[in-house]
Amino acid sequence: MNRRRRIYEGKAKILYEGPEPGTLVQHFKDDATAFNAKKHEVIEGKGVLNNRISEYLFTRLGDIGVPTHFIKRLNMREQLIREVDIIPIEVVVRNIAAGSISKRLGLEDGTALPRSIIEFYYKADELNDPMVSEEHITAFAWATPQEIDEMMALALRINDFMTGLFYGIGIRLVDFKIEFGRLYENDLMRVVLADEISPDSCRLWDIETENKLDKDRFRQDLGGLVEAYQEVAKRLGILNESRPASTDGPRLVSST
Ligand code: TMP
Repeated sequence: MNRRRRIYEGKAKILYEGPEPGTLVQHFKDDATAFNAKKHEVIEGKGVLNNRISEYLFTRLGDIGVPTHFIKRLNMREQLIREVDIIPIEVVVRNIAAGSISKRLGLEDGTALPRSIIEFYYKADELNDPMVSEEHITAFAWATPQEIDEMMALALRINDFMTGLFYGIGIRLVDFKIEFGRLYENDLMRVVLADEISPDSCRLWDIETENKLDKDRFRQDLGGLVEAYQEVAKRLGILNESRPASTDGPRLVSST
């Protein structure tokens, strides 16, 4: 079926060797997992939507000067990206209490946090991605202090931009997870945004109804995940609005 060399397969994506050195093809699968893959389901249409939503967000972030690995979307499920050395840290930015911070600190879901809070998690499935501090990150040399500073500065810019972007379409950006990579260009190394930003990796609540438009629909067995992701895509202007939500998958409209 596919004779390209598979470089890496994760829970929701596959990376293939790209057409030129230094490039990769990032393929979005329909698989949804939660609780470190203890819960798994294939949700038809999710990969296509995440490909489009992540393309849109990375492009807009690139427009405001956030360096990213994204080059271009290739087809419904795939995008061409620059090959980076992934920093093994998940950076979570939170604006409103939900998920693990509510449990850990005994906060009520929906409580506005005193300010945006950045957390770091060490990417290690066998350990369930434990939360770590800057001390752990530098002591174990997962990233340098300079890289941590760059990741935090970029994370806050991304948060400010996306908070406004989503607010404009009636959606509250509760929290999100991002990953960064090291991009080598000749003798220079830059920290760039990598992986994806999609409703799989964000919490997005409708401002009026407080409906969840993200992967919590799957984590909490609420149903309607594809419809929720379609709603996000539609409000971002990615999907054709006149099309009914529940037929044969999303129809793409040209963004150019
Ligand atoms: P949490 O509340 O479960 O710590 O999640 C915080 C945010 O990070 C939320 O938007 C979901 C996202 N996230 C991921 O993208 N991948 C993960 O493995 C986890 C645990 C959370």
